[in-house]
Amino acid sequence: MGRGKVNGLGCVLVVIVKGGEAETFSFACVCLNQVVQCRDIALKIKAVSEKLDDIAKEKAMYGFELYRATDHELQRLTSTSLVDESSVCGRDDEKKIVVSKLLAGSGQEARDMEVISLVGLGGIGKTTLAQLVFNDSEVATHFQEKIWVCVSEPFDGVRIAKAILEHLKVSTSNLVELQSLLQSVSQSINGKRVLLVLDDVWTEDHRLWEQLKPSLVGCARGSRILVTARKGAVAMMMGTNHRIDIETLYDDACRSIFNHMAFLDRSKEECERLEDIGNNIANKCKGLPLVAKLLLKLPALIFMLARQSFHLNFMFSPDFHYFLSHFIFSLKFGTL
Ligand SMILES: Nc1ncnc2c1ncn2[C@@H]1O[C@H](COP(=O)(O)OP(=O)(O)OP(=O)(O)O)[C@@H](O)[C@H]1O
Ligand SMILES: [Mg+2]
Repeated sequence: MGRGKVNGLGCVLVVIVKGGEAETFSFACVCLNQVVQCRDIALKIKAVSEKLDDIAKEKAMYGFELYRATDHELQRLTSTSLVDESSVCGRDDEKKIVVSKLLAGSGQEARDMEVISLVGLGGIGKTTLAQLVFNDSEVATHFQEKIWVCVSEPFDGVRIAKAILEHLKVSTSNLVELQSLLQSVSQSINGKRVLLVLDDVWTEDHRLWEQLKPSLVGCARGSRILVTARKGAVAMMMGTNHRIDIETLYDDACRSIFNHMAFLDRSKEECERLEDIGNNIANKCKGLPLVAKLLLKLPALIFMLARQSFHLNFMFSPDFHYFLSHFIFSLKFGTL
């Protein structure tokens, strides 16, 4: 009772015989589907376009100006090995684990240069933990050379090699090429037990690491490379022997960070009165130390707004945008 035929346009002609009469419906299946899809897309484009128009109107109404952070501003802060240990809360267990991995097997059974990676979310405290470990007294006596390099982005072999040589007090003034720098690195660490911290590694390009790695193989057994990275893929690319996932801080450690800074200049009575509020806010940090620190910056923002409240235009002034973009920039790049 039904017949189908594909015509020249790729349409399917279906003939349905009903009550002796043939009704012919031409369903342009393929074409029809395309038409429906196009219509859906067109409607979506129209909706997006209307939304953009609304945003543009609001931008004009409030006098917003586009603020573009410069490359200089977007650079991540360079870390160093220095840390104020009195301001660090928690991480005792993690520190013990990392230190034990660094010191393990220093005898004949020790393997060549092992790679230990600290992996975790941005702002969770990887660099801070690496700093604690780097400055540990047992670690200091165990290794003949301790070298801290902030790798960041881009992974620049020449810069890393220069930083290593600078730590080893080797002059790099007449060395320009990666080849000669790496040769010098290789000679300078040969036979020494070395701890090399590569902080904040981002690249997943194994070729960059493989270029550098051979210069490090001559150091003594028991030498270690300690890497910090947000992504597990980076740890894998570095040929990690031990990966340590850094978890969020316990609530009490987070509360300590928050309360320590929030109540710094307050009287004892004031601290007692505000303790519950402080604890409640600190509990919202979800164990992220960076968030605890950032929340402490918020009152400054609110205070500033309150002071300026009789100048409502300030809210829409370039000063405010500048302040806000720096605040958000700090939040994103963990520079607080
Ligand atoms: N245990 C801690 N106690 C107190 N402050 C901490 C602790 N851990 C981290 N912080 C603070 O939190 C901020 C972020 O820490 P850190 O730079 O170590 O994070 P990160 O994991 O290395 O982040 P990123 O992935 O961006 O490099 C820093 O200001 C640091 O001082
Ligand atoms: Mg870091």
